[in-house]
Amino acid sequence: MTSLQNAVVFVTGSNGGLGREFVKQFLERGASKVYASARTPREWDDSRIVPVVLDVTSEESVAAAVSLAGDTSILVNNAGSYRDGDTITGGDLDGIREMFETNFFGPVRVGRAFGPLLGANGGGALLNVHSALSWWGVAGAYSAAKAAMWSATNSFRLELAGQGTHVEGLHLGYTDTPMIADLDVEKNDPADVVRAAIDGIENDEFEVLADEVSVNIKAALALPIVALYPDLARPSV
Ligand SMILES: NC(=O)c1ccc[n+]([C@@H]2O[C@H](COP(=O)([O-])OP(=O)(O)OC[C@H]3O[C@@H](n4cnc5c(N)ncnc54)[C@H](OP(=O)(O)O)[C@@H]3O)[C@@H](O)[C@H]2O)c1
Repeated sequence: MTSLQNAVVFVTGSNGGLGREFVKQFLERGASKVYASARTPREWDDSRIVPVVLDVTSEESVAAAVSLAGDTSILVNNAGSYRDGDTITGGDLDGIREMFETNFFGPVRVGRAFGPLLGANGGGALLNVHSALSWWGVAGAYSAAKAAMWSATNSFRLELAGQGTHVEGLHLGYTDTPMIADLDVEKNDPADVVRAAIDGIENDEFEVLADEVSVNIKAALALPIVALYPDLARPSV
C-alpha cells in the first residue's frame, strides 16, 4: 500500500481541470508538499504547494524540474493536449508528431527522469493519466498517442517494480475540464475521477477505470471489432 501521509507529490499540467483537482485532493489526503508544475505556473494560496515551471516536451525543462524536486515520492503524469476532430489520415505528420510529443514522449520523458528519484525515495508511485480513447481509435493521433502511452505504462510498471515503485494507469471518458469545454456531452465530475485515481494509489491498483465508458470500452476489446466500431458492420446480402 502506498501511503499518502507526508507524501511529496509532483503533478504535471497542474493548471488544468484534473491537475488542480490532483493538487487539492493530495493535500486533503495527507501529502505534505505538492509540486504544481505547469508551462506557466499560477499562484497558489498554500505554502505546501510549490509552483514549478515545466514543459513536458523539453528535455532541459524536465531536467531542471528533477533537480528542484528531489524529494518527490509520487509522480502524476497528467499533462496532455487534445484536438477535437483529430484524425490519422488528415493534416500532416507534424500534427501527429505534436500529439505524440505531448501525450507520449512528454510523459515518457518525465517518467524516465523521475524514475530513479522515486526509487531513491523509497519506491513511491507513478500515475499515468490515459483515456478511454487509449482503447478506442475515434480520435486519430490523440487515440494513437494515448494507446502508445498505455503500452509504455505497462513497461514502466514492469521495469520499476524492482525498485518498489507502484505504477497506475488511469482511464477516463469525457470529464468536465477546459480540455473539452466546447463539447456538449455528458461529462464526469473531475473531483470524482481524481478521487478514484488517488484511491487507486492508496490501494496499489494497477489500473483505474474511472467511469462506465472506460469499463465498457475495455470489455469490448475482447469482442469482434464491430462491437467497438458498429459503423463497420455491413448489412448482410
Ligand atoms: N477532460 C477529458 O474529457 C479527458 C478525458 C480523457 C483523458 N483526459 C486526460 O486528462 C489529462 C488532464 O487533462 P484535463 O482534462 O485536465 O485538460 P486541461 O484542463 O486542458 O489540462 C491539461 C493541462 O496539460 C497542460 N499541458 C499541455 N501541454 C503541456 C506541455 N507541453 N507541458 C506541460 N503541460 C502541458 C496544459 O497546460 P497549459 O495550461 O499550459 O496549456 C493544461 O493545463 C490529460 O492527459 C488528458 O488527455 C482528459
